[in-house]
Formats: sequence, C-alpha cells, structure tokens
Amino acid sequence: MLKIAVAGTGYVGLVAGVGFAEIGHRVLCVDIDETKVEMMQSGISPIYEKDLEELMQKNYAAGRINYTTDYEAAYKEADAVFIGVGTPENEDGSANLSYIATVARQIAENVEKDCLIVVKSTVPVGTNDKVEQFINDFLVNDVRVEVASNPEFLAQGSAVHDTLYAKRIIIGTESEWAENLLKKIYEPFNLPIVAVNRRSAEMIKYASNDFLALKISYMNDIANLCELVGADVQDVAQGMSFDDRIGSKFLNAGIGYGGSCFPKDTKALDYLATQNGYELKTIKAAIDVNKDQKTLLYKKASNRLITFNGLKVAVLGLTFKPGTDDLREAPSLENVPLLLAQGADIYAFDPVGKENFAKLYPEGTNGKGTINYVENAEEALKDANVCFIFTEWGNIKAVRPKVFKELMRTPLVYDGRNIHGIDAMEQAGVEYYSIGRAPANRGGLKELKKSGLQAARF
Ligand code: UDX
Repeated sequence: MLKIAVAGTGYVGLVAGVGFAEIGHRVLCVDIDETKVEMMQSGISPIYEKDLEELMQKNYAAGRINYTTDYEAAYKEADAVFIGVGTPENEDGSANLSYIATVARQIAENVEKDCLIVVKSTVPVGTNDKVEQFINDFLVNDVRVEVASNPEFLAQGSAVHDTLYAKRIIIGTESEWAENLLKKIYEPFNLPIVAVNRRSAEMIKYASNDFLALKISYMNDIANLCELVGADVQDVAQGMSFDDRIGSKFLNAGIGYGGSCFPKDTKALDYLATQNGYELKTIKAAIDVNKDQKTLLYKKASNRLITFNGLKVAVLGLTFKPGTDDLREAPSLENVPLLLAQGADIYAFDPVGKENFAKLYPEGTNGKGTINYVENAEEALKDANVCFIFTEWGNIKAVRPKVFKELMRTPLVYDGRNIHGIDAMEQAGVEYYSIGRAPANRGGLKELKKSGLQAARF
C-alpha cells in the first residue's frame, strides 16, 4: 500500500482520495481551508454526492484517510501526490492554472523522497510538461520528481461509483518508472488501464468531454429542426440508438448542457486550437447551439405571453442536472434573471439546489420581480400562470399531468427536459411545449402532427 497525498478536496480531489482509501492506500487530503478540513474529519462532506459521506466516515475510522492544511508534512512523505485543484475558465476561455502552479511550488519545496506528481485536474495539452519543468526549477532536495497525467471522467451525482467502477483509467507518463508506479496504485481497482504519453492523456480528456457535448448539441440542433418539420426528437433518438456505432446514451435533447465540465472544456479546446492557428469548427458549433438552446423556451414563452410582468411563474429545478447541488452553467441561471428583469413573481422548487441558488438570488424582491423558494413542486404550481421545468429531478418528474391542470391558474408548461408525454398532457388539458416535439393543446397542432403537415414553430 502506498502513501498518497491529494491536493484539493473538490469533486475531483476528494472523490479520488476516498477511492484510493477504499482500495487500501493511506491517503492524506490537503486543503487550505481549516474549517473544511475539520468538517471532513468529522465525517461531513463539503459536497453533495451519493455514498461519499458514508465512505469518508468508514475510511477515516479505519485510519486510511485523513485531512490536513499542513501541506509541508503531507508532501514530504508521499509516494505520489495527486493534484485535483480547480482550473476555472479565464475570460478568454483559456484555463486558469494558478492553483496548479501554487500546489506545484509547494510540492517542489517540500518533497524529501522520490515522488510522482499526478495531475487529475483538466489541463490544456502540454501543461504537464510545464508543471514538471516548474517543479524541477523549484526543487529543494535531490530527489526524483516526475509528472503524470491521469484525467478524471467522473460525472456529478455518480462520482463515487464512476471512480470505483471507472470505464477506463487513462495514464499519461514519460517514463517506465512513472507508468509502473501509477499502474501499481490503480492495480487494486481491477479496471482497464490505457497507458499513453502525457500529451495524449491530456487530449483524451478534452476529446471525450467535447465529443459528449457535441453529441448533445447535435441532438438539440436536430430537435429544433424536428419541431419545424413535424418530427418527434425522442422517436428519432430511439430510432438512431439501435445502431451501436451511434449508441443509446447522450441522445436526450433538452435545454442545453451545463455543469463544471462541458461548457468549460469546449471553450478551452476551442481556445487551444486558436492558439495553435487551427479552427475547431465542430466544437465552435457545439458551443453556439448550446448558447441558444438555454433560452429557447423563455423566448417561446415570451412570444406566447407578451410579458411576464406580475405573472406567477413556477420554476421546477435549479441545478444543472439531478443528483447534485451544483448550479454551474445551469439553465436556471440564464432564465431566472430574464424572468426577474421582466417583473415575474417566481416560485422556485429544487430538492437540493435552493440554498445555493438563494445565495445568488436571495428570497424577496429582485429588480422588478420577486423570487420565493418553496418546499415542493405543488406549492410552486399553485395559482401559477406559467411553469418552466429546468431539471429532471425524480420528484419533479413525478408531478402528474392532471396536477398542472388542477393547481395552476393557467396550465401552461414549458418543459426543458421532455419529461411528459404529449398525449398525456393533451388529455389532461395542459398547454405544453417541450424540445423537439409537437406541442399539446395549442389549437389544431395535434391534427397537423397526425396528418404529417408542417407544424409551425412557436
Ligand atoms: C460530465 C461527463 O459526463 C464526465 O465524464 C466528465 O468527467 C465531467 O463532465 P457532468 O458534468 O457531471 O459530467 O454531467 P453529465 O451527466 O455528463 O451531464 C452534463 C450536462 O449535459 C447536463 O447539463 C445534462 O443535463 C446534459 N445532458 C446530458 C443532456 O442535455 N442530454 C444528454 O443526453 C445527456
């Protein structure tokens, strides 16, 4: 068993640390925030993630994981240091590497034995070469330090599972020593390992994430065309999915992708290409489609309602996807300010994301409008003039069509996640618009759909 230090206790660092402890390594997680360290020692996770607290508590009790602010002690003794600090987006779309640089320097000044530095954070291709050079420039003791790339593919909401049962482990190294050490660390997981050079490993991460973003934007583009020509994007996706070259996953059209990875990584790859004198046309298109997609329903509703001023608007779902309290790049963040600016009276429900959202938009008056946070979907829907669905949480999906009809003043629903069946909404008497499908109860359109005539875009 090896001694592993992990720099950064965000999604990537903390989940990786817990994963390594779970398979038997001795793990010390480093964070600069004293309160956060104490919180983690008492078994509380700073992030909302299924199974995480349970495994933190179990491995802490077994003495396999601990948390500290004392990076000097942590890096001095480690066989390997995993870096999982953030690489936020700069204004120009490039990745901000200042946190990586800080950690790299701390490592260089404190390692006392041969040590492998493993970068898990998503970094532009070529960064790890520079990190290795940087560490060697600042190295105090006469020890061997190399840098490896080991990108992370976990998705929020299933991060622990994605780590323990990863589809593949990508390791990018420049020496046999580094490759063998990383293989030894990962051996107990018993997962497929793909060993490549450092730059290829860095590229695999971007190419994978951006491919998925592209797949979503492609389906959203197709969805928008489906609406215009009277096709149904869910039927289209199902038909496509039988071809295993296409696959059945990530074909869900909706209100655009959000989260901490796809928006950032598409922009970073586009930036990298531009820096290298190349235009990455496919990724530019994915970014473009996604930008428009996020406010598509708002625009449709604006046409239908003339104004939101003084209307009671139910917002169901605030996080960028279910299973997380993360709001980064969530469609709600694009739409709520537009509604408030128009003077809407918003009643928002999210099972987990309310607290984070309220930090950005405190309850009460906001500009011309107001925002209120409620405990369940029904409370939000009561007497509402219009409803927007932004996240497909289980207890939002569970709201039956007749409930919209019974509770709302006018049963008018804009569904960004294609949760409901059109026929069911039609029968319940709900006026219903979604993504890439015919509307329900918009006078006559059902007939158009049946007869195969063109449905007008609304
Ligand atoms: C993603 C990748 O899945 C993961 O491998 C990588 O390490 C980090 O980025 P995450 O951002 O947590 O993970 O969520 P994911 O489930 O992939 O969803 C991303 C966004 O795409 C969400 O906004 C989601 O709603 C949207 N999405 C996903 C769609 O709109 N349609 C789909 O079919 C799938």
